[in-house]
Amino acid sequence: MKSLMVLSAGVIGLAAVGLSQQNSPGVSGVDAIAARQASLDMSSLAFHSLGEAMKAGEEPKNFAYAAAALAKWAKALPAMFPAGTGQGETPAFSQARPAIWKNRAGFEKAAAYYAETTQQLAALARANDSPGFTKQLEAVNQACASCHAIYKAGDQGPPKK
Ligand code: HEC
Repeated sequence: MKSLMVLSAGVIGLAAVGLSQQNSPGVSGVDAIAARQASLDMSSLAFHSLGEAMKAGEEPKNFAYAAAALAKWAKALPAMFPAGTGQGETPAFSQARPAIWKNRAGFEKAAAYYAETTQQLAALARANDSPGFTKQLEAVNQACASCHAIYKAGDQGPPKK
């Protein structure tokens, strides 16, 4: 009896998963590309404003929110690269290289490194550690550059827009 109940609970659970997937609105590939590019543009703006602020002698504690926002995005980043959304795979312009899906583990590792460096950046901001924060900006820059070198086509320098 008990095992039957467990079994039926499992079947109901599976049915519920099927149902929720069917009813879920989902996000199209083109929308995922638009969302990730917008987030990457905003990351670039946030990231460069942090460097400018440190050069202007401002206190890192005022930038904890911006640093934490980068860390939040870093965690969401891999899911914004679903299969079938690479360069030339949809009508949308994209610089996402096939390596993202050929070497998914490597891509996720690069994103995890980005998450780690930005989490540390946020912690240093909260601690108002100016030298530590400034040094950590280099590590974050490295996280952007090392991912782009393998997984992003086109210009590898700082974004010009
Ligand atoms: C884990 C990999 C990864 C990390 C980390 C990463 N990027 Fe990117 N980035 C990409 C990929 C892939 C694209 C191409 C996306 C596309 O065109 O669909 C991209 C595109 C961009 C673009 C162009 C967006 C557009 O509008 O076309 C900018 C700007 C950018 N990244 C800035 C950054 C900055 C700044 C950082 C670090 C603070 C960063 N990226 C970290 C992978 C990464």
